[in-house]
Amino acid sequence: MSSILDGRPGLAAVIEQVAEVTGYLWQKGWAERNGGNITVNITEFVDDEIMAMPAISPVVQIGTTLPHLKGKYFYAKGTGKRMRDLARFPMQNGAIIRICEDCASYEIIADEPVMPTSELPSHLALQNYLIETGSSYKATLHTHPIELVAMSHIQRFLKGDEMTRVLWSMIPETLAFAPLGIGIVPYSLPGSIALAEATLEQIKTHDVVLWEKHGTVAVGTDIMDAFDQTDVLCKAANIYMCAKSMGSEPDGMTDAEMKEIQDVFKLPKERPC
Ligand code: 13P
Ligand code: ZN
Repeated sequence: MSSILDGRPGLAAVIEQVAEVTGYLWQKGWAERNGGNITVNITEFVDDEIMAMPAISPVVQIGTTLPHLKGKYFYAKGTGKRMRDLARFPMQNGAIIRICEDCASYEIIADEPVMPTSELPSHLALQNYLIETGSSYKATLHTHPIELVAMSHIQRFLKGDEMTRVLWSMIPETLAFAPLGIGIVPYSLPGSIALAEATLEQIKTHDVVLWEKHGTVAVGTDIMDAFDQTDVLCKAANIYMCAKSMGSEPDGMTDAEMKEIQDVFKLPKERPC
């Protein structure tokens, strides 16, 4: 069977990287059953032939209007599809979609009519924001990292910047690689527009967003970058949990030690483009 990837090495490399990352998600235990989802903006690889491709699905409403997505193209994981299957067969467990002229609907163009993830509103809200702000970021990742979800069941961590402070204090690299920290979205119905809107607000000022009692959302230059952002924070959560299970609350780095890192490495306080 022919594929949109045939004769397009740039696009094929992006999808290959998605497959590599979904394998890691499964290995880490973050992707039970169909858990988690991905979108990647692939518009830069679109040529005349792709633009002329007919829809292979009916037009589907997104549920919201996203003005910066007109005519843009995305790879999206299929709803109900497993990350571990996607790792082997990315084009049978995901699809390429084109956003319609009205900026409120999409159609599938390749390879198969695999319906996109139920979390598409959140992914596309972030993609719309990234394009609007001229960001070079192309990928969005929602996953279910065990230690971070576990922390979101403890009220103390959901207040203010407490979770960010604790995670930063576990190992210097967390602060260096996630200088904006983790933003919290109170529990909201999976797949809802309310969840998408709350996620968008938090990603403006944080590296990763934590959906209370559900999972994380990260953005990145590519899907590996979005994975790394999540992994860095989850590693800190794991260290916290390991120290705690040794019998006491971990000390954590002091505020002065963390400030020194922020100053010496001139860490950004806003999301770079
Ligand atoms: P999908 O299978 O629709 O992508 O949903 C998985 C998920 O994690 C929902 O939050
Ligand atoms: Zn989920």
